[in-house]
Amino acid sequence: MLTFKRVDKCGKKATQIFLPVIDGKISDQTIEKLFDLNLQDELAFFAPSDKPLKAGEIFDIPVSAAGYKCERLSLVSLGKLTALDIRAAGAAVGRKLRGKGDEFFIGLNLKDAQAKSFLISANLGNFTWSLKSGTKEFSAKVEVTNISEEAIESAQVVSDAVNRARQLIHTPSNIKNPEWIAKQAKKYANGVKVEVKSGAALKEFGGLRAVGGSSPKPGPRFIKMTYAPRKANAKHIVIVGKGISYDTGGISLKRPYDIMIPMKSDMAGAAACLAVMSALKDIKANVKVTALLMCAENAISATAQRPGDVITHYGGKTVEVLNTDAEGRLVLADGLAYAVKNLKPDYLIDIATLTGSATLGLGKQYAALYSRNVKWVKDLREAGEISGDRVWHMPLIDDYEVALESDIADINHTADKGDFNAGSVTAALFLEQFVDGVNWAHLDIAGVGRAESDAGENPKGGTGWGVRLLLEWIGSFK
Ligand code: BES
Ligand code: MN
Ligand code: ZN
Repeated sequence: MLTFKRVDKCGKKATQIFLPVIDGKISDQTIEKLFDLNLQDELAFFAPSDKPLKAGEIFDIPVSAAGYKCERLSLVSLGKLTALDIRAAGAAVGRKLRGKGDEFFIGLNLKDAQAKSFLISANLGNFTWSLKSGTKEFSAKVEVTNISEEAIESAQVVSDAVNRARQLIHTPSNIKNPEWIAKQAKKYANGVKVEVKSGAALKEFGGLRAVGGSSPKPGPRFIKMTYAPRKANAKHIVIVGKGISYDTGGISLKRPYDIMIPMKSDMAGAAACLAVMSALKDIKANVKVTALLMCAENAISATAQRPGDVITHYGGKTVEVLNTDAEGRLVLADGLAYAVKNLKPDYLIDIATLTGSATLGLGKQYAALYSRNVKWVKDLREAGEISGDRVWHMPLIDDYEVALESDIADINHTADKGDFNAGSVTAALFLEQFVDGVNWAHLDIAGVGRAESDAGENPKGGTGWGVRLLLEWIGSFK
């Protein structure tokens, strides 16, 4: 991980200096004097104007100056300074610093918001996770110029929170059962109140019990985290996260079996919620935020629910279970119904690795966002573009709702009546049955929640998607 520190000029202990190249231009008089260089000339040698550098490309120049430890000057291309270019460049620098524990200097000359975004991407690109024996934790100190104290602190808090979510997602499922997730919630609470329900206390949570009953040791957990701001009459945001610690599919076992392997990531929604909560005090959030982490393992066993079972959710709605692999919506339904009945949310939002269909539609860079509140959607889209966790507004198509009909229960849960072929949409329509007119949004993060290759900001595995989006949006309440 990277630890950022604001400085006025490059310190003597930095072993490597990074300087931005913006639209083919570079200048930094202090550094030029220090090493007796003309940076623009150096750049012309590496990258003639007919072959401009791509954002994130880095060129190293060996340097030395009396009294300074620095051995390398690295020219980092920030392309044409688009939001994507800045993030690509930040991530590239973070990657260069993986496995390093020395001191570094970045001579930024950007606007505060751009500098913040660059540093967040740097800390994300720096993230690695391994259980290889002998793995050491590294922490590089990074000095940064031309940035406000507020921006550098915020970059640190936000990027640390994303990396915290990633650690939870990367942890294998033999370690992270629902009880373990509850322990992590307490460990990272950072002043937030944490309450955990298990066993008999989950009597009314029919969805959580039906899914989590497949793995009774230790069984499912309902984890409630509450942040209260100093501000009086603050708005109340409730976030509900899917926390399936492993998804085998249950009796409707996932096939081919290989697609099960990445399913330790099926708690990415809950991990994002936990990480967001852990940062609220540090970003001095002005809203009340409650997170509900719906944690269970979807296993295959003698106590597993069956296709054909009818369960009763929190609040009393009955649901005919048709495919035990559609378990996410069952645990979320209890969480949404609990929020509506007990928490009076002004905003209710759930985040879940819910359907493979979301990935089919949007790929792995945009999350599917469902909501009927167009103004709120606009705010979330903006927060997405600023933070890098981008969302696409998907339709809640009313005429597909007949897919939810059941002959024997209030609704069926796989929405398989008719032939609509829109799994992410019908899953959203299922969830909407539990929000009772409350101002609600749903994020299907099945695509963005996990990266299949180690590139850019993301390691292979859990991305921590949603932490930046939610912290950006929550931070916009003044
Ligand atoms: N956890 C999966 C969704 C998923 C798939 C997340 C791939 C990440 C990558 C979810 O529980 C699931 O199995 N959904 C089913 C629903 C279907 C049975 C109605 C799906 O999308 O196939
Ligand atoms: Mn599933
Ligand atoms: Zn799942």
